[in-house]
Amino acid sequence: MSPSDGKAKTDCWRPPRQQIAHWVRVSGRKGIVVKYIVFDAYGTLLNLSSLLPQCRAVIGDDAVRFLDLWRRKQLEYAFLRTLMDRYQPFSAVTEDALDYTLAAFGRTLAADQRRALAGAWRQTEPYPDAPPVLAALSAWTRVILSNGEPEMLTASVRHAGLQPHLTDLISVDAAGRYKPHPAAYRLIVDRYAVNPADVVFVSSNGWDVAGAAAFGFRTYWIQRTQQPVERLGVKPFGTLAALTDLLPDLAP
Ligand code: LAC
Repeated sequence: MSPSDGKAKTDCWRPPRQQIAHWVRVSGRKGIVVKYIVFDAYGTLLNLSSLLPQCRAVIGDDAVRFLDLWRRKQLEYAFLRTLMDRYQPFSAVTEDALDYTLAAFGRTLAADQRRALAGAWRQTEPYPDAPPVLAALSAWTRVILSNGEPEMLTASVRHAGLQPHLTDLISVDAAGRYKPHPAAYRLIVDRYAVNPADVVFVSSNGWDVAGAAAFGFRTYWIQRTQQPVERLGVKPFGTLAALTDLLPDLAP
């Protein structure tokens, strides 16, 4: 998704109550409802717009366009490295994408400025709805599955103060492949010995929701911006405007 904040869309689609009730029934084990909820990190719980002040300090008025290209390149390089079988940690991919973006804008930075800008990914702020929603879902096993490598992801989650609300942080680094490769989503079913259909997966990134749905997770797309649904042959289970809209379906 684009890091720029858009207005929440109101015509979101929520699965009918019976469909949710049926899913909760069939995914129970020995009478106990198995509840695993997995969140994407960057752009879903962590607000990429919080990178804008650092971008503005370097690039001025073009900061939104700069950050948009940086994010796009970061994702493109992650996808391409997975296709090319040339995995590098997400912070390295992020730095490469920054160098491309600086070149595209005809800019060079001193080494310490460049390091500080790339390091801003470890200091992203949470979306305001993230902490209360995670807290309200305390009956669930709450996990992040992110393309960020463990060190980067842990720093980001700690900075955002989300650590107390999470059971686990899982990085695709262990798979050596980025989402949306199935090997990345498989880390969840291997860790918890669950069926994909027993897992709720939440992301604001349309490509991530498509990958998770193709893998077999129950997906909720948080459509924070006006972007259309991805045409990848799979649809999200539910499309919601904000994380808080999860609560009527999933909170006890
Ligand atoms: C994540 C990024 C790519 O996996 O959104 O957290």
